[in-house]
Amino acid sequence: MGFPVNQPLIDGNELKYLTECIETGWISSEGPFVKCFEDAMAKFVGRNEAVAVTSGTAALQLAFDALQLSPGSEVILPSFTIVSCASALPGLGLTPVFVDCDPVTFNMRAEDVAAAINERTRAVLIAHIYGLPADLDPLLALAAQHELKVIEDAAEAIGQTYRGKQCGSFGDISIFSFYPNKHITTGEGGMVLADAPALIERIRFMRNLSFDKERRYIHTELGWNYRMTNMQAALGFAQFEKLPRNVELKRRIGRAYDEALKDVEGISLPLPATDYAENIYWVYPLVLDDDFPADAATVMAALGEEGIGTRHFFYPLHRQPALLKHYPQLADISLPVSERIAQKGFYIPSGLGLDPVHIPTISQKIEDVLRKF
Ligand SMILES: Cc1ncc(COP(=O)(O)O)c(C=O)c1O
Repeated sequence: MGFPVNQPLIDGNELKYLTECIETGWISSEGPFVKCFEDAMAKFVGRNEAVAVTSGTAALQLAFDALQLSPGSEVILPSFTIVSCASALPGLGLTPVFVDCDPVTFNMRAEDVAAAINERTRAVLIAHIYGLPADLDPLLALAAQHELKVIEDAAEAIGQTYRGKQCGSFGDISIFSFYPNKHITTGEGGMVLADAPALIERIRFMRNLSFDKERRYIHTELGWNYRMTNMQAALGFAQFEKLPRNVELKRRIGRAYDEALKDVEGISLPLPATDYAENIYWVYPLVLDDDFPADAATVMAALGEEGIGTRHFFYPLHRQPALLKHYPQLADISLPVSERIAQKGFYIPSGLGLDPVHIPTISQKIEDVLRKF
């Protein structure tokens, strides 16, 4: 038997709450678990309100919809992240300006953002990548100085903190994803969080097809059906009850790999902590040294033959064919760190369902495979 890159852990009240959905007939988004889950997350994070949606990608769409930036505005965002961060931009007539990332934390840096700001810049999206948050203080100070709106993408940082304050509480709007590789899951799902009533109202309006307030089935704008079902929320609420435990489990997995892989040659390991946060190891990323005689794809194939599941790093957004069609000017930019780690990086089994007793075995196999190159 091999080791998949992710295995969720579903061992709390999930079955009980799901059974309640079935037995009561509340299966749609109208059911009571949706509000329970929204309220629990908002309170935990310290936001006024949370709006449960169908995915992190949908949450990002609604976040950009809610900001109502004028077409032609520029949005600064990391290149080293998932495409979802940029998916909403073409439809809203917004232009992405991608910045590179720190080679060790993989997060966007304030100095790069400062260099990308001009008179058309209206917003910045900050995504926390792979388990350590971005260094928010200088980023938020820059945004305040230039009156930029801020979206915090905390999809990978549920339960993480920045200088003791929950990720998902920063900026004008924040989002989470509950895909099964996240710290808590609803199968598919996401959440948008904000404090300003006007933003919340617009997010709820756009989530539910933008029904006219006076007359249902009249629409003055085109919204989306991004409503989370009661069944997803039931799962999410049960998972929420285990969030501190889940964060601790991920840290245990991360620390066990740190120890088991520390002397392995040819790779660099993630940073266990910075001065503002302790890693929660959303995934356990490895980056091959520049002079390693193979790229990530080759090493991943060799590990696959040994039963070790892996996944590629993100592919830089400024090199995405789908985005180049909308923004051909991206072909002219070069963001060397994002480009290099996309070729040299991959991550290894670290799902919540991975029993840490297997980590020495997995690590030994990784060491053996790397030695063969
Ligand atoms: C940083 C980040 N943002 C957004 C998303 C999108 O979330 P979803 O897969 O729920 O659409 C992900 C997914 O992994 C992510 O890593």
